[in-house]
Amino acid sequence: MINIAIVGAGVWGDTHAAIYKEHPQANPVAVCDKNVNRAKAIAAKYGIEAVYADVEKMLSAGGFDAVSIVTPDHLHADIAVACANAGKHMLIEKPIATTHTDVLRIVQASRRNGVRVMVDLHNRWSPPFAAARAAVENGELGTLRHGYFRLNDIQWVATDMLSWSAQSSILWFLGSHSLDTLQWLFGDEVVRVYSVSSRGVLDAVNVPAPDTYLTTLEFRNGGVAQMENSWITPNGNLCINDIKCAITGDKGAIAIDASSHNLIQQYTQDKAFVPDILVRNQIHGRVKGFAYESIRSFIDCLVADKPFIVSMEDAARATIAILAILESAEKRQPVDVVYDF
Ligand SMILES: NC(=O)c1ccc[n+]([C@@H]2O[C@H](COP(=O)([O-])OP(=O)(O)OC[C@H]3O[C@@H](n4cnc5c(N)ncnc54)[C@H](O)[C@@H]3O)[C@@H](O)[C@H]2O)c1
Repeated sequence: MINIAIVGAGVWGDTHAAIYKEHPQANPVAVCDKNVNRAKAIAAKYGIEAVYADVEKMLSAGGFDAVSIVTPDHLHADIAVACANAGKHMLIEKPIATTHTDVLRIVQASRRNGVRVMVDLHNRWSPPFAAARAAVENGELGTLRHGYFRLNDIQWVATDMLSWSAQSSILWFLGSHSLDTLQWLFGDEVVRVYSVSSRGVLDAVNVPAPDTYLTTLEFRNGGVAQMENSWITPNGNLCINDIKCAITGDKGAIAIDASSHNLIQQYTQDKAFVPDILVRNQIHGRVKGFAYESIRSFIDCLVADKPFIVSMEDAARATIAILAILESAEKRQPVDVVYDF
């Protein structure tokens, strides 16, 4: 049994609590949020005993083996280093961190303390992407030559859902998934990036953040891919995400449309939408989607002492490549990616 604490009781902290509550080998024992009322609400919803407003106090009290870090994108590192120093294994939400210094701090503290870290780059559990990866592994596509991944959000995510979108970026929030997925599908690492960005739509509604990044990636072994990440898909889109991916090898290709699939659409008098049947859905009251699968896998791998499906190093690679993308978009020049952790 893994006793677990959750730090960050927002939208996604609730997702972590839901799966720990139903996992037979997980026992959520503490929840911490600097907004203590949020922590209390999740504790009451899932029957979690201990509530904290301060991570250090929670770590001093102890009573758990692992911690889920579910704070905003730019606020993972201090908590992760404190948890590592307290000897706790961690599931850190994506991205692992948003600065080079913070990546190194987390990697070094975890290695120094011998704790295990998974990062929740959960697109690896998405059924069409898992099928694509299996086809690549089986040699059905041959060697991958080029790829394309569009992973966009409707504007509402930046304007209403996240209170901290201007301190993050669509590259951190969704680009981390695109980059990790492409590196995983190609079985290779990105060594050079060239990105352009545009802004104005979010600025006009008082969210000072770029709208869109269009990025070309070069892999070490010669593959190339393009990545589109935007926060300005109109709110009328059928789905919160706009997800399209295509990969082409020398023997075959795969095309994925994970948002506008034809499995189900729902209509009211004034709108049409695609109900979530893949990510965070429930069937007969049981949590089912791939967002839950990744968290479930964290517990399974801890219990079985197996390697995580997303390692700390995978996530560090994604952050370091995204930092190069930000630099490239700023300079309007290609940038080499150097992995130094
Ligand atoms: N895996 C996914 O695809 C996925 C999906 C959604 C969100 N996320 C990630 O989850 C993280 C949280 O996102 P969210 O939407 O739940 O955000 P949120 O704003 O709803 O919740 C974050 C919570 O963290 C708390 N917090 C901030 N600093 C803290 C601190 N020092 N100590 C304790 N609590 C603190 C805030 O008070 C807030 O309640 C982000 O990194 C986000 O990218 C991942």
